[in-house]
Amino acid sequence: TTLPKERSWIASHYVYNYQGLWLIERHLGGVLACQQQFQAQESDIILVTNPKSGTTWLKSLLFTLINRKKYPIFEQDHPLLVKNSHDLVPFLELNLYVDGQVPDFSSFTSPRLLATHMSFATLPKSIQDSKTKLVYLCRNPKDTFISMWHFINNIKVDHTDSKSIEECFDDFCKGLSPCGPFWDHVLDYWKESIEKPNKVLFLMYEEIKAQPKLHLKRLAEFLECQFSIEEEKCGVVDEILRMCSFDNLSNLEVNRNGKLSSGEENKAYFRKGEVGDWKTYFAKEMSEKLDHIIKQKFQGSQLSFLYI
Ligand code: A3P
Repeated sequence: TTLPKERSWIASHYVYNYQGLWLIERHLGGVLACQQQFQAQESDIILVTNPKSGTTWLKSLLFTLINRKKYPIFEQDHPLLVKNSHDLVPFLELNLYVDGQVPDFSSFTSPRLLATHMSFATLPKSIQDSKTKLVYLCRNPKDTFISMWHFINNIKVDHTDSKSIEECFDDFCKGLSPCGPFWDHVLDYWKESIEKPNKVLFLMYEEIKAQPKLHLKRLAEFLECQFSIEEEKCGVVDEILRMCSFDNLSNLEVNRNGKLSSGEENKAYFRKGEVGDWKTYFAKEMSEKLDHIIKQKFQGSQLSFLYI
């Protein structure tokens, strides 16, 4: 490929800059195939995140919320109890179209629940132009970076080329993170959510943590599947939140010892699930440097992050 490329801390791979988005080669193939072939349906619901922003959590919430009639949450054989949410809500470019594959959507029922890390600019045109709903989840950049650093070290087979946290951080600050630059990804969806509030719902990990009930109801309203008074009385909202909580999901047998169909261990997607863990790892200078970048990049956007 002739695209601009850089060596980056992502498992020592090159990352390629495609339409402003930094991607490893395998995912680049997935993005290209998806752009060329994916036909969005108006009823599709697509979760978009920057990697390590809480995708696993929101996939679980979305799946449980949308399918609560088909799979009543109080039942013992609920799919989320035996499968990881990444197998229930696949990524377009990382699973369905990875390596240029042509996916079979015949087993999907409507609404199709899908996910992606693609930037708004790289989304297939049929997603951008249709009434397909996008749920965007973002997380503060310090916790996102720390979560990513752990994840990459965790899934790495060869540790001889490991980089220090400081070197990785320098790359992150240059925008060289998976699906980075972090700020461009967030800002583009933030702007879309303001211009088209019926198309893009912008959620923040820290806000859901602080007021889970409020945000789950917001999500249900946005997706036009509001909770009935009866459901609220029966505790359905609380039960969905309990079922999708970090403690519940991370302790399930499937997530302790199971693997995804793509091969990764499910447990790699559950670490601490907290806000503010960055403080354990960030030196004062690192924190100040990122604060400075974030201030510059988000100036005038009215968007601010919660760090504790
Ligand atoms: P930490 O590494 O900070 O613990 P993603 O799903 O986008 O890969 O993000 C993974 C992050 O979400 C990890 O963060 C993980 O622990 C956290 N996470 C996973 N499941 C969660 C849940 N049910 N509730 C809250 N956080 C969760």
